[in-house]
Amino acid sequence: MKKTKIRATDNGPLHVQDVNELLDGLSQPLKVENEIWLCRCGCSKNKPFCDGSHNKVNFKDESRSKD
Ligand code: FES
Repeated sequence: MKKTKIRATDNGPLHVQDVNELLDGLSQPLKVENEIWLCRCGCSKNKPFCDGSHNKVNFKDESRSKD
């Protein structure tokens, strides 16, 4: 089994590779591909997945906003 990799993209979602399983708040499995993007801006209409809304709200990663 491959190790799951999670990368916080600059001012965007969490990019997750080699996903084995993703559970919802009731511990029910969500249908996912091997590679997914998870929302971290809170504005997606398709949570927990990113729908691109971070661009519309100009989401800035706190650690990057000091640039
Ligand atoms: S990170 Fe993309 S919609 Fe929230």
